[in-house]
Amino acid sequence: MTNSFFSSAPYIPPDAIFALTAKYLSDPSPNKVNLGQGTYRDNNGQPWVLPSVQKARQILDEKGLLHEYLPILGLKGLCDKTAELVFGDEYNQALASRLATSQAISGTGSLHLAGKILKSVSHSEALPKVYIPTPTWSNHHLVFSSLGFEVVPFTYYNAQSKSLGITTYLSTLRSAPQGSIIILHACAHNPTGLDPSIEQWKEIGAIIKERGLFALFDAAYLGFNSGDYNKDAWAIRYFVNELNLEVAVCLSFAKNMGLYGERVGVLLLATSAPEIATNAQSVLESLQRSEISNPPAFGAKIAETVLSDDELKKVWFEDLKTMSGRIQEMRRALFDGLNTYSTGTWNHLIEQSGMFGFLGLPRVAVRTLKDEYHIYMAENSRISIAGLNTGNVEYVARSIGEVLACEKQMFTTDTARILPRDTIH
Ligand code: LMR
Repeated sequence: MTNSFFSSAPYIPPDAIFALTAKYLSDPSPNKVNLGQGTYRDNNGQPWVLPSVQKARQILDEKGLLHEYLPILGLKGLCDKTAELVFGDEYNQALASRLATSQAISGTGSLHLAGKILKSVSHSEALPKVYIPTPTWSNHHLVFSSLGFEVVPFTYYNAQSKSLGITTYLSTLRSAPQGSIIILHACAHNPTGLDPSIEQWKEIGAIIKERGLFALFDAAYLGFNSGDYNKDAWAIRYFVNELNLEVAVCLSFAKNMGLYGERVGVLLLATSAPEIATNAQSVLESLQRSEISNPPAFGAKIAETVLSDDELKKVWFEDLKTMSGRIQEMRRALFDGLNTYSTGTWNHLIEQSGMFGFLGLPRVAVRTLKDEYHIYMAENSRISIAGLNTGNVEYVARSIGEVLACEKQMFTTDTARILPRDTIH
């Protein structure tokens, strides 16, 4: 073997969802459909620049963009406006003084920064465990394990009933050691599209409080899930305002402002007292300095402009309705199509919400849909519903129906019975 400083580097397979996008892009088929990565598309299958964002860009252009560094913690205006947005009517001076905030590199960067500060302030010898629902967004494990945390997966989804496995969820929380970090999807759980009900959130919050656990909200879809920001931020507000819990909220403007490539995120830490917030914020500043020095400016200025201008903010709220409304229509259209073209039961699809549909298809069907029908979705049969439109939804429903019928037929023949059948995730 060649003598190299890197000779011990293992080969790590490419990230599945990015690899799927690359595969889709290189597929020459005119019928191809991308239901993989979660990116919003309009009814023509095109990326959509939100009217509110277009207007903000125009305002920034007119002002003249200088390409100066931002402060280490990013745009203060963006962080303040984000906090105001997240906490809504309940945001006041007392709460503001208990917050430590920093701009971060989208959702991933916010999670990473939250992990870094939790690691650096950990009291105990061993780091707290990080409890992550199964299934979850594919990057959660990597973000926290790469920081040295022990990651504990717990069952979130009941594959049998295709619903949220609340009993196991609650019993996991009850047995988690004090100080453990619990990853919560604030809304639009990725990939299952199944969120706890208000009553279930109350039970989750009560156990977190009683057992001294730390709630870390991944909040990548606020406003994008239901079209109503207040509704989507309910659990965060309840934990902070009603339960008085310290929490981390990791926000991304990738989905809800369509700022995918600009990497705009904010980390909010709700602490128990102003002096604690001041110190925590100084730690965030030092961690950020060592890692990225200061965050990117362009997307942050767009988001800040949208949030600071009441008129523009109204336009953005309409944009959120446009995106979530189209996704809801497509969810319904796929449901209707599947009922027409297949014999299966699809109620779970309309019980889910948000960007993703968790179909519950066997892996072999997912592969056939990709290889033979040019329909791309994550291996666990999560689909990004935004990839559907009035021009392809029938094709997708019919193709799924055909693949399932064919599979069923195969498994009723003697030879097929001895083939291993893929499990549903
Ligand atoms: C997704 O879940 O598809 C998106 O959040 C994109 C990503 O980075 O994984």
